[in-house]
Amino acid sequence: MLELMVNLQAVGGMEDFNMMSHILRDARKYEETMEKQIAREARPDFHLSARVGWMNDPNGFSYYDGKYHMFYQYHPYDCHWGPMHWGHAVSADMLRWEYLPVALAPDELCDMDGCFSGSAITLPDGRQLLMYTGVVKERQRGRESREMQTQCLAVGDGIDYEKYEKNPVLDKKDLPEGSSRYDFRDPKMWQKEDGTYCCVIGSRPADGSGQILLYTSPDGFQWKFKSVLVSNNNRFGKMWECPDFFQLDGKWVLLTSPQDMLPQSFEYHNGNGTLCLIGSFDEEAGKFQEEHDQSIDYGIDFYAPQTVLTPDGRRVMIGWMQNWDTCQQRTTDVLWFGQMSLPRELSIKNGRLYQTPLRELEAFRVNKVAYQNVIFSDAIELEGIRGRKVDIELTIRPGDKQNLYHKFALRFAQNEKYQTSLSFRPRESILKVDRKHSGSRRAIIHQRRSKVNSVNGELKLRIILDRFSVEVFVNDGEQVLSAILYTGQSADGISFFADGTVNMDIVKYDFAVL
Ligand code: FRU
Repeated sequence: MLELMVNLQAVGGMEDFNMMSHILRDARKYEETMEKQIAREARPDFHLSARVGWMNDPNGFSYYDGKYHMFYQYHPYDCHWGPMHWGHAVSADMLRWEYLPVALAPDELCDMDGCFSGSAITLPDGRQLLMYTGVVKERQRGRESREMQTQCLAVGDGIDYEKYEKNPVLDKKDLPEGSSRYDFRDPKMWQKEDGTYCCVIGSRPADGSGQILLYTSPDGFQWKFKSVLVSNNNRFGKMWECPDFFQLDGKWVLLTSPQDMLPQSFEYHNGNGTLCLIGSFDEEAGKFQEEHDQSIDYGIDFYAPQTVLTPDGRRVMIGWMQNWDTCQQRTTDVLWFGQMSLPRELSIKNGRLYQTPLRELEAFRVNKVAYQNVIFSDAIELEGIRGRKVDIELTIRPGDKQNLYHKFALRFAQNEKYQTSLSFRPRESILKVDRKHSGSRRAIIHQRRSKVNSVNGELKLRIILDRFSVEVFVNDGEQVLSAILYTGQSADGISFFADGTVNMDIVKYDFAVL
């Protein structure tokens, strides 16, 4: 009890827990005022960014009351991670977002140290139900505090949410034996055809790695442990965060983000990564049978994706376009940090997860410039091809059938001083994104190499820039590489380079102001 009292003082006193908290009210006022100090051009245009302060994982990505809702891990007061709130935005098309007031703040006994990631569903009575991880620090004298994690609910109308009086609805009692109560987070719920609910949650079993737990509920409020859906067994990193589980093209897909990965060839890299498991699901037993594993994104910045099912049946994914190991580097003169990826339509082809940019994006393409059969063997620029908000589709092939070229490169966000590049070496079939010269002054990861499928030096790329990021869709979505870059916007040059002879078709569009 003493410990509890100390924690209460830390968040402002006992009375705060009995009314619409001043913590939430203050956050709402603060973001509304501060947002005005951020110019539109200082943000990405069609990628959702933090309203002010810090953003991480997408949360509660859902279609509710005729709009897409995106909540996000949010610390409005600082460009660094801190006590987690849920930021909130809505959109008719997942591209033009409108901010709504902070939805959740850490203002209850069960979540006083943070409202961590979670999900949203629509209840039969039309209200929206959020499930999130409530975090409470266990402060121990002389030792580092530990974060106890439980699952909590809040119910709302799409703007205001009230936390459930019986929170938490899942706690240490609901864990299988040996699982940690300090790593039990990120519930993703869905409704089954029979009207009942399921949810998957990240957890750490006794072997110290990760597992995904499955829970069921008749009504969204009473939850029961069903099974360990899938175990990591220390194969892919350690703890598995932010699971999502859904049917796609006749298979079941588990997306999760493992912490502390070791690299495996070109498929997985060090640090926090992303993992897609494709297989089948024995619903009766609550067990997932894996058939295939792969990274979700092969670039530098992508984590904790969540999906939504659109009214027309598309499964669309958005991830946090950052990397936990490099994300504290933003300069102090900017008031926001963190942005989401493009919405990506998912499908399965030949047992692999494919991603393509949301098709609605195409409606915003203007100023088409196209060239066919451009043959070059040095550095070139093409009239009309430049910009930092562009969509580029290109296909390359050898310009000389007898002699395979050594290297192709596309350089962008370029001026005399800066550039970011995408280069391809057909002999190794390696595609590399390199932002070493993007203006970064830190010794962090600037490059990533990925093995891609290419026959006889042919490669198809779609490259989307939105001021502070690049997303590269390889071979019609077979692989994607995402990276953040903070190069000043005046560096808007685009050029091409070949060592050997390359033959290229290219189409470039600008994006109209969204
Ligand atoms: C993943 C994550 C989640 C957690 C949240 C906290 O990026 O660590 O597991 O809920 O971020 O902000």
